[in-house]
Amino acid sequence: MAFMPSYVEALREGYTRDPLQPETPPIIDQIERQAEWFVRLLAQPPHHVVLSDGSLGERTPETELWYVEGETFLGSISVRPKLDEALEAWGGHVGYTVRPSARGQGHASAMLAAMLDHIGETLPLDRVTLTVHLDNPASMRVIEKNGGAVRDEVDHPWIEGLRGRRYWIALR
Ligand SMILES: CC(C)(COP(=O)(O)OP(=O)(O)OC[C@H]1O[C@@H](n2cnc3c(N)ncnc32)[C@H](O)[C@@H]1OP(=O)(O)O)[C@@H](O)C(=O)NCCC(=O)NCCS
Repeated sequence: MAFMPSYVEALREGYTRDPLQPETPPIIDQIERQAEWFVRLLAQPPHHVVLSDGSLGERTPETELWYVEGETFLGSISVRPKLDEALEAWGGHVGYTVRPSARGQGHASAMLAAMLDHIGETLPLDRVTLTVHLDNPASMRVIEKNGGAVRDEVDHPWIEGLRGRRYWIALR
């Protein structure tokens, strides 16, 4: 809760948890008004998600960690310990976002390095996979600086024209 005022500020400047469905101003207002509800929802997300074809699917477990300095929220990074077919095809184990005003200062590189240590210590994974849009050279650089090796290039499963690069990062 201590970070929620800064988190809301980050949302207002363009930080989003899902670039394909960014939070709208009314949603951000609601998150600000009902911060406790929002934090509870993050800690205990619903068991199901609406899939691209409109059907309900089981949500893959995900742990989201916040990267902060003092009471300032800088960004977030998530890990999904087990991938289903859709996340294996696009998405992968790890995803991250830095708030726009804090970019270009090494935070994503540091978050990913810390997350790889955390995964190595807590999960039985020998390597992780990550997907990056081809038009995101900053993220490719972050992954390559953290030991990422190119796996292949893939089309987004349901968004036409969106192509990405999949990487592997070895943990052991
Ligand atoms: C991608 C993102 C996470 C990078 O965060 P960041 O904190 O700015 O990243 P860092 O400062 O740790 O490192 C960025 C690296 O990319 C480099 N870079 C930045 N823009 C670049 C460009 N257009 N071309 C090539 N390299 C670029 C930087 O120079 C830096 O490399 P360096 O340390 O060798 O100088 C951030 O822009 C973001 O949150 N974007 C929106 C969400 C997103 O794309 N998430 C990743 C999904 S895979």
